Formats: sequence, structure tokens, C-alpha cells
Amino acid sequence: MSDEQHTSGIEALADEQRTFPPSEDFKKTALTVGTEMYDEAAQDDEAFWARQATELVSWSKPWDTVLDWQLPDAKWFVGGELNVSYNCIDRHVEAGKGDKVAFHWEGEPGDTRTITYAELLDEVSQFANVLKGLGVEQGDRVNIYMPMIPEAAVAMLACARIGAPHSVVFGGFSSQSLADRIDDAQAKVLITADGGYRRGEVFPLKPAADEACEASSSIEHVVVVKRGGNDVAWVDGRDHWYHELMEGASTECAPEPMDSEDLLFLLYTSGTTGTPKGIMHTTGGYITHTTFTHKYVFDLKPETDIFWCTADVGWITGHSYIVYGPLSNGCTQVMYEGVPNHPGNDRFWEIIEKYQVSIFYTAPTAIRTFMKWGAEEPAKHDLSSLRVLGTVGEPINPEAWIWYHENIGGGNCPIVDTWWQTETGGIMISPLPGATTTKPGSATFPLPGVTAKLVDDEANEVDNGGGYLTLTRPWPGMLRGIWGDPERFRDTYWSRFPDRYFAGDGAKLDDDGYLWLLGRVDDVMNVSGHRISTTEVESALVSHPAVAEAAVVGADDATTGQAVMAYVILRGGADVGVEDLRSHVASEIGAIAKPKAIFITPDLPKTRSGKIMRRLLRDVAEGRNIGDTTTLADSSIVDELQAKAAAAA
Ligand code: WT7
Repeated sequence: MSDEQHTSGIEALADEQRTFPPSEDFKKTALTVGTEMYDEAAQDDEAFWARQATELVSWSKPWDTVLDWQLPDAKWFVGGELNVSYNCIDRHVEAGKGDKVAFHWEGEPGDTRTITYAELLDEVSQFANVLKGLGVEQGDRVNIYMPMIPEAAVAMLACARIGAPHSVVFGGFSSQSLADRIDDAQAKVLITADGGYRRGEVFPLKPAADEACEASSSIEHVVVVKRGGNDVAWVDGRDHWYHELMEGASTECAPEPMDSEDLLFLLYTSGTTGTPKGIMHTTGGYITHTTFTHKYVFDLKPETDIFWCTADVGWITGHSYIVYGPLSNGCTQVMYEGVPNHPGNDRFWEIIEKYQVSIFYTAPTAIRTFMKWGAEEPAKHDLSSLRVLGTVGEPINPEAWIWYHENIGGGNCPIVDTWWQTETGGIMISPLPGATTTKPGSATFPLPGVTAKLVDDEANEVDNGGGYLTLTRPWPGMLRGIWGDPERFRDTYWSRFPDRYFAGDGAKLDDDGYLWLLGRVDDVMNVSGHRISTTEVESALVSHPAVAEAAVVGADDATTGQAVMAYVILRGGADVGVEDLRSHVASEIGAIAKPKAIFITPDLPKTRSGKIMRRLLRDVAEGRNIGDTTTLADSSIVDELQAKAAAAA
């Protein structure tokens, strides 16, 4: 390792020279140390994935065809049958591992629950019977809107057990966002909780769930887990307490054999236009991809490792690396309900020490926050159980990488910077910790079985320098479409470059062939690793009666990666405070979409043809000097905005 000076910001990526080969010690026990898997997959990727599906997944009926690829439609393990909940639970119990802990759950107030695989089997089977009792049939959609409690995972697995696709909506989303997602999926049942704990207080969920049921049309039953103990309104006949329904439910429920291509779940994510997309994931390919990546990317030894992914189950990371991948691999996990700074700024490190976590997976934005809180917080705890660290959700700046490596990893844990998306289902670009020499800030190489290429504007492949990230071959965890909108599926991902999946990210290949992800190149913002569309926030703003027009951009932010910045033109005579507008966005979409700053302006910079110049607004928000504004209809507006931004900074 060579130690160059520390630099920060996105420019630092370009200069980053330090390299970190896996240590000899780590290699001694690593699952992968050489290039064999890469070579095997490069020879024949279908055979490679078929081997993973055979070795890592249990099928009740073998498949006939590995891959049926008619662009943009891929079908994996065609004709095969399996049940994902069986793979995540029953097979471990059948193998004599029923007493093994599946979850060490830690509530934010400090209460805990330990759940073994045998207990998980009982609870999931019971809840599957409950769902059947409420009239849920194979193929029916079920919405889940929950805090980070074990019942969230139980609900997902119970759905998988009976073949009812779930649609989990992050608990921080507003009632309107939940209603939109319920309506789009036409879900029959909603599973929620009275409330959960956050920052030492109960945040109620049931009121938002009630509003969402009012505002949508398809929910027949609401199941409510008692967690917060807060008062709730009740609709007789529609609402049911989870614990009451569970009391009488049998622990016997045979897992339904599902077709490999049956829908496992929908998960909504933001795109470039206003309405969120229901990303479709199916059964056989998804569980193969998540099981494989969870095992090899984290060098998992299921007998001894304690895995902790800090994501919320409301995001794809929680689906793939809290519920499906880790349980399919039969490992022991930590699941934590609350925030990292309650009661103290060392809560995460306390949890790692308490449960002897050996693999830790979190987001760069969290790491930058920990940096602000200071190295003395992790130093209070013994973190020597850690052996692999991961990051996900956004590019990690080298400075944060090095801080993570030194202060959390004690200088000797490999870091896997994992690039993927809601759409990819699982990790796509990442080091393999025993095999890959890492460079801080680079996600390094596509995994075995994944083919990623950069292209320029004209779709020519780029093998050195910057370009658009595309995927040229289907992969098992690939999205199978957008719920109810096949045309949007084709348009969004498959039309920008012929015969390729376009991820929406820019990237760079360096002289050694390392990939450096540079962020979105479309109108999607990445705030603390959460995907938010500029148009979605704009729609929320203009839905306020005082707002005539709004333009939203994501501006670089040292902690959150990007921050939402809004420029708003008020209607004639309207008078509204910036705080009111911020709260309005939070109530329309959710607190994660709340603009960091809103500038009220009499006008917006537009081209002569009337298009808002977002690039320019971004420059203003990031405090850059604006160069050439000759294409602007009225350039004086930019001076005015710049003065406002400078005053606010
Ligand atoms: C977008 C996908 C994957 C689960 C969490 C986010 C960005 C994700 C990385 C990374 C650089 C990353 C991309 C991608 N992203 N991981 N390691 N390095 N950027 O899932 O909400 O679907 O967002 O997150 O821009 O397109 P998502």
C-alpha cells in the first residue's frame, strides 16, 4: 500500500492511487482467492449461473432451460419450481440447524428478541395461514408498511410461502406515497404496525396507513403489529391485531411450489418522471443471485459469521441482504430498529461489540456522519470481531473509505464497495474480498457472471475514461419489468443504447481496468443513498396552492452525497414560508425528500425554447461560477439566484 495525501470530493476519485491487496491472513480462509470463478463465468455465463443455482438453491422441480433471452425479456431457470421461504427457512431446519439464531433483533429502546430458524419457521407458517384466512391467494399482492421489527421479515417470508407477491413501502414514506403504491399494485391486504421507535420516541404508522386506505381503493384487511403501544384508530372488520390473529393460527403451512418466473415481489423506486415504478422481481433467478452474491461478496462462513446490514427492509438492500440472501445462506444476523445515535453516537459500535458482528454492511452517507461524530465513538468499543466491511448506495469518497478502513476495520478488514440497483436485484460490481486488490472509491470489477461495459453518447464501447454504465448480458436477479407498464420498461432501460441495459449511472475506467462509479446522469437524485426523482419533488411542490412553478436539482453535499435544492415561483399574491413548503414535500412524499433549501424566485433560468436549465441551477446550488449563459432567455435571473444562494450558504 502506498499512502498518498488525502483529498476529498468527487475530484479525489480521479487522483486516488492507493491500493489494498487482500492480506495473506485473510486469503488463508477466503472462499475465493484467485480468478477461477471469473474465468469460468467468462467461458460460459449461463453454465456458471446454473452451477450456482444448483449448488446454492433447493428446487422442488428442476428447470429445463437456464436462460430464455428475448430482449428485453429474460427468463431464468425456465420450468423450474421452488419456494423462496422454504429456501430461507425450512431447509436449514431440515438440516438440523433449527436452533441456530436467524435474527438477533435489537429494538431501539434496548429490548431484544432472539429468533432461531425453527422459531422463524413456526412464525412464518402461522402468518402464512393468517394471510390465507384473510383471503389472500397465490398471485394476490400484499402491502407491507412496517418499522424495522422481525415481523416485517416474517410478513415478507409468509407472502413468499404462499406465493403472494409483497410490496414493501418504506415506513418513512407519506400516506400519499403509500396510497399510490397500494393503488398501483391493487393490494388486498396491508400489514403495518401501530408505530415504531425512532430517536427515542414512538413514530406512529397506523394513522398514515389509515389515510392511505382511505385514499386508495383495494385494501380489504389491515393487520397491525403492536410495537409502539401508541393509541390507534380502528375500523372494525377491516383492522386486525397481528397477535390476535396469530394466537389461533397453525404452525403447519406447506410452502407453495412456485414457478421460477413467478413474481416474488414488487418494489417501487423513483425514475426520471413523476410516478414511481413498480420494479418486478421473480423467484428462481432472484434467490440465486442474492444467495450467490451474499455468500461470495462477503466471504460468508454461515457457521461462524454474524452479519449485519444496517439498511431498512423498505429498500432493496433490506430485501436482498437482510431477508433473502442471508436467510437463504442460513447465517445469523443482527437486525436493528432505530437510528445510529440513540441513546449515544456509539450505538452501532456497541451493537457490533455486543453481538460480535463479523460482517458489517452500511452506506457511505452513514460513514461520513460517523466521521463527523469522531473516531472516539468507535474507539470506545472492541470491534475486533469484524472481518469484512461493505458499502452500498452511492459512491464512497476515498477519505470516507480510508476512515472506515482504519477506524472501523482496524486497518485489516477488506472493504467491498458494492454497486447495484433496485432493478438489478443484487450486487453487480464489487470486489471479492480474498481475490481483489481494492482502490478506495472504486467498486473495482463486475462480479463473475456480470458483464458491464461503458459506452459513449454514440453507444461506442469505451475501455478507458468516462462513459455510461451499461450491462450487456442478462443476470439472474434482473428486474423482469415495471408493474403494469411494459413500454416504460423498454423505454427506460433498453432504448437509450441498442441491445443494452442502461443503468442511469456514469462511470470511469482507469488504466488498470477498475470501474469508478460517478453518480446518476439522469434526473434522479441520490440523497443519503436514497433515490429521489427531481420531477417527483417538483410535482409535490406545485401541488401546494401557493406554488406556480418549481425546479429541483440535486447538489453535492459533503454528508448526504446530494441534497435536494428547490427553486420555486409563487403564484401572484401568494405568500408562504419556505418551512411550510418543506413540510408540504415531507407530507406529500416523505421526510427523505424534504428540500435542504428552497429559494423563492420571481423567475427561473430557461432556454429560449422554454426549457428549465437544471445544469445551471445545479451550478448555482453548488456555488460554482456560471460561465456562458448566452442560451438563456433572461440572464439577469441567474445573477439574482446566485446572490440568494451565496446569502444562504
Ligand atoms: C443507484 C441505485 C443498491 C441498493 C441501494 C440503492 C447508486 C448504488 C453504489 C455504489 C456508486 C452506487 C447508483 C445506482 N449506487 N450503489 N457502490 N457506488 N453508486 O439502490 O435506490 O435503486 O439506487 O444508487 O447511482 O444507480 P437504488
